[in-house]
Amino acid sequence: MSIKTATLNGVATIEIARPEKKNALTVAMYQAMTDALRGAVADSAVRAVLITGQPGVFTSGNDIEDFMARPPGQGSDAMDSPVFLFMRALLECDKPVVAAVTGAAIGIGTTMLLHCDFVYVSDEARLAMPFVSLGLVPEYASSLLLPQLMGQARAAEKLLLGDPFTGAEAVDCGLANAVLPAAEVVGHARRVAERFNSLPPGAVREAKQLLRAPQRQAILQTIRSEGELFAKRLRSPEAMEAFQAFFQKRKPDFSKFD
Ligand code: COA
Repeated sequence: MSIKTATLNGVATIEIARPEKKNALTVAMYQAMTDALRGAVADSAVRAVLITGQPGVFTSGNDIEDFMARPPGQGSDAMDSPVFLFMRALLECDKPVVAAVTGAAIGIGTTMLLHCDFVYVSDEARLAMPFVSLGLVPEYASSLLLPQLMGQARAAEKLLLGDPFTGAEAVDCGLANAVLPAAEVVGHARRVAERFNSLPPGAVREAKQLLRAPQRQAILQTIRSEGELFAKRLRSPEAMEAFQAFFQKRKPDFSKFD
């Protein structure tokens, strides 16, 4: 099983555990994470959710083989795809979500952090959103939220050039709360999540809703419009060249495209 879940001391932990593929996320893993998030919302014993990875890697993003074999649907089917159901489940989670970023966080590994309430990053973490380099476009409302968070100039470096950035930069631009030594990041994130055991759950729920409500419609709308383009681009010759180059461990050649 590549997603491990456990509830302990009021915290539902979702652990991404596919280290041999750098925690790349498959359709089945999105489904398991969606179920875990929905289960956490329904379980009154859960006061907060913790999302974490493996030592040295949070997640390398969507499994590129899955992108080729099982791309999210287009048109009216698009929003029923497992990746979008996961996105919605995280958006709709009314309990605090704490992310412990244990290492590389690529693609959705970074964009999902925009929708977590607390983000703790290891000093080895490298974040990146190389959508354009893969022939794709930004997703999970990153094209809306990233410029708001860090300004257009820095967002263009991350989203157009796909420049990687450190945990310290993630803290500097407000994407993460703190950088911690690699061995301490999960423990610290867990302790933050456990603090909700002594806070009133109704007030926490309503406060979280207030914090997120002003952007909610714009986020959903952006996810939809990004998603339409993303699904189309997944089937594009540019994306095919990028995916093949990744598996052939070579640099992609985009010189023939206009
Ligand atoms: N999808 C599918 N397989 C992936 C993957 C992904 N997103 N990320 C890593 N893997 C696989 C590699 O193909 C490799 O498989 P192999 O052992 O069968 O050859 C294995 O995981 C180890 O990856 P490798 O690239 O050798 O590890 P690394 O430590 O050198 O680099 C990363 C780690 C995360 C920096 C690098 O794997 C990477 O950039 N991955 C792709 C990230 C990406 O573009 N994600 C999509 C975003 S939309």
